[in-house]
Amino acid sequence: MDMYLETERLSLRRFTAADAELLIELDSDPAVMRYLTGGEATAPETVRERHLPYIIAGYEKWDGELGLFAAHERDGGAFVGWFCLRPETDGPREEAELGYRLRQASWGRGYATEGSQALLHKGFTGLGLRMAWAATMTVNHSSRRVMEKLGMTFVDTAPVPPDMGRVEGAEHGGVRYEITKEQWERARI
Ligand SMILES: CC(C)(COP(=O)(O)OP(=O)(O)OC[C@H]1O[C@@H](n2cnc3c(N)ncnc32)[C@H](O)[C@@H]1OP(=O)(O)O)[C@@H](O)C(=O)NCCC(=O)NCCS
Repeated sequence: MDMYLETERLSLRRFTAADAELLIELDSDPAVMRYLTGGEATAPETVRERHLPYIIAGYEKWDGELGLFAAHERDGGAFVGWFCLRPETDGPREEAELGYRLRQASWGRGYATEGSQALLHKGFTGLGLRMAWAATMTVNHSSRRVMEKLGMTFVDTAPVPPDMGRVEGAEHGGVRYEITKEQWERARI
């Protein structure tokens, strides 16, 4: 297993080409996809032919240090979902998007906060990050709550992308949160 980091309860590892089924199953739960596609599953061929190759290509681009990582429970190894800490394709390496998508069975146990806290710690102390940002739909309250618990600050609203126009709550738009290295350091004192 190509380990990336460990928290108290989670192991994060790099994805491999053998992980398509995990991602297909994760994206086939309408509750998981509620605020992403309106509940629609990602087509298996899209996962196999686009998403997974893109994830793996990202490890090459960012030396295996930034990207999307599979999360498992340390106790028993169950797949929990994924976390990402990833610069925009043509953006500066010092600014990365924080994201998470967890299996419904793993919600409500503090995992999203725990994994994200570890990623921010690694990003700000070991990877030269200056700022991390996260975005979600205005109505995705659990995701926003995670951002708030991480000490991130609401900075902006924006319309949701056109392909999400029919998702429940799209009329309320999206929100962006940020945290700089300095803010993160101050919050830890
Ligand atoms: C968003 C998501 C990652 C949260 O994962 P999680 O492991 O349950 O998150 P945590 O347990 O760390 O924290 C969730 C917080 O949201 C709160 N919450 C949950 N549902 C809520 C709601 N409807 N309204 C307000 N707060 C809510 C929880 O009470 C908790 O806060 P607390 O610790 O103060 O009680 C998970 O629900 C998920 O993967 N959803 C599907 C994919 C998704 O929407 N990803 C984000 C897209 S940007």
